[in-house]
Formats: sequence, C-alpha cells, structure tokens
Amino acid sequence: MGRITSFIKRKVFRMNRDRWNYQYDKGLWEGLKGLDELARFSVIIGYIKYLKPGQPEIVEIGCGEGLLQQRLQTQNYGRYVGLDISDRAIQTAQAQADGKCTYRVGDMDTYQPEGSFDLIIFNESIYYSRHPLETLQRYATRLKANGLLIVTINDHKHSDELWHRIRDGFDLLDEATTITAKSTCVCKVLLPKGAKSEL
Ligand SMILES: C[S@@+](CC[C@H](N)C(=O)[O-])C[C@H]1O[C@@H](n2cnc3c(N)ncnc32)[C@H](O)[C@@H]1O
Repeated sequence: MGRITSFIKRKVFRMNRDRWNYQYDKGLWEGLKGLDELARFSVIIGYIKYLKPGQPEIVEIGCGEGLLQQRLQTQNYGRYVGLDISDRAIQTAQAQADGKCTYRVGDMDTYQPEGSFDLIIFNESIYYSRHPLETLQRYATRLKANGLLIVTINDHKHSDELWHRIRDGFDLLDEATTITAKSTCVCKVLLPKGAKSEL
C-alpha cells in the first residue's frame, strides 16, 4: 500500500473512531440496553444455544459495549472475540469481560481475526462496512466446518437492498423477525453458498 493511501486510511479510521467515541460519550447508544432491544438479543442468544451448544468459539464484529457477550453468559462460549471501532465502547466491554474474552479496537473492513470460529456475528453493524457482501465473505473464510454467520439488520429504507446483496454470497438456514414498540429487526442465520449444513 502506498504511503498516501495508508495515510488516508489511518485518517478515515480516526475520524470514524472519534465519531463513534463521541456518540458513546454522549450516551447516544444507551438505548441499546433498553427493553425494546431485548428481543433482538434474545433471538441471537437462542440461535447460539440451539445451533452451537456447549463451548462455541464466537467472533462479534461491531460488538459495541459487549452487551451480547454479557447476556449470553460465560458458560455458553469457549472463546469470545469482540471487535469495535470505538475504543470507548471496547473499554466498557473489557471491564465486564471474563478470561475467555478478547476485545479489540479496529475497523471491520480491515480486521483479520485470529483462528477460526463456530459463529461470526454482525448484530446491527454490517451497515457500517463499505462493502457488506465482500466483508461477510472475507469473515466467512474464518468459519470452522459447519460454522455459521448470524446477521441482524433493522428494518429501514435500505434494508431490503442490503439483504438482497448479501443473498448473493450466502444460503439461508433460518430467520426470525422481532417487532418491538421501537423497531422491526430481521435476524438471519447464514452459511456460505454451497456449504452443507449439519442440521
Ligand atoms: C448500532 S451499534 C451496535 C452495537 C452492538 N452490536 C449492539 O447491538 O449492541 C453499531 C456498532 O458498530 C460499531 N462500528 C461502526 N463502524 C465500525 C467499523 N468500521 N468497524 C468496527 N465497528 C464499527 C460502532 O462503534 C457501534 O458500536
């Protein structure tokens, strides 16, 4: 990578990180802890326990303050890796993490997780990738045999188009839609196209 490209990428990363840090500092994402977000988390946790019982290895991209890991509880994972662009959010997640968790600050479009995973989760975060399908496909190369992706997308004017793009690279194992007083959220369990499901 040329020096100018590398400089621009670092600058864009810092601007993004600062924007998200500002929003976390202002408490703009406190709503994620609310009752009207519970259904979304509960569906993901249900899928994890049903599809990968025991001690799955999980990576969550755009994990925010680690709410999913905290709610899933330590007995339901063998390893949990969380990535977020906001170091403020990661500090908060880290403060409540156990020895099986690793939290990292980074950009989902460039981060390379170590090892392989049973589950890769994008919970309300794939919107922030510059190229969602390519990003999901890149992470999917880190799936173990029979590994799965879980992706949630809140219903908004571009969500159908986003799902449509993602559909090109993945087969659908299952999906569930939650409707709360605040929003409608679709959660899909995906596997790389052509991969056989053990279920
Ligand atoms: C709507 S929040 C969802 C947080 C968490 N998944 C949840 O549901 O509570 C989106 C998260 O994506 C993170 N994010 C945004 N752009 C990102 C990027 N390029 N790389 C990694 N994380 C990013 C934000 O900092 C934020 O924590």
